[in-house]
Amino acid sequence: MAALGKPPIWPYTADPTKREAPMSGKPASPGKPVSKAKAPALLSLTVNGAPRHAAAADGDMPLVFWLRDELGLTGTHLGCGKGECGSCTVLIDGEPARSCQTTLAAAAGKAVTTIEGLGTPQAPHPLQAAFIAEQTAQCGWCTAGMVVEGAALLARNAQPGRDEAKAALEGHLCRCGSHHRVLRAVLRAGGREPS
Ligand code: FES
Ligand code: FES
Repeated sequence: MAALGKPPIWPYTADPTKREAPMSGKPASPGKPVSKAKAPALLSLTVNGAPRHAAAADGDMPLVFWLRDELGLTGTHLGCGKGECGSCTVLIDGEPARSCQTTLAAAAGKAVTTIEGLGTPQAPHPLQAAFIAEQTAQCGWCTAGMVVEGAALLARNAQPGRDEAKAALEGHLCRCGSHHRVLRAVLRAGGREPS
């Protein structure tokens, strides 16, 4: 049986001496140590509209860990850790990205939007409201990634059809089988009659 996808870049350890392999970028050439003096001390990015900073030394940390563990944005879920399930999806400069496969350094200088940044309980994003109306979530583990991906679709196309919604969300796995209701929610959020 063929091996499934890419190897995970986690479990992450903050201690670089305990990592088995570089987690991003090219390994340093033997005899050419990277000059720490030249490395910027901080990485800067925007998360849900607010400026945030992280130690440059943490640049190879998967973004999902930083969002959850450092910022407390636990709405972004870690599922497979291999880029295959979609539960960790966030927006980076408006484009869906798998935060388990995106390093903190790769997100530096960019705008990250998580499920918490799409709306609030008082003023939900139309897709969040539609997910609630369709009672889409079962265990809910995949839900945030689906909402974030669907929000990106609605930003591109305010009234997607069923086929467009299916194509946008086909990379998202749901072991509870909520897909039919997810599609209904996307159609509802676009103002179409759910079918
Ligand atoms: S946890 Fe990132 S794609 Fe599954
Ligand atoms: S609702 Fe449980 S994995 Fe999707």
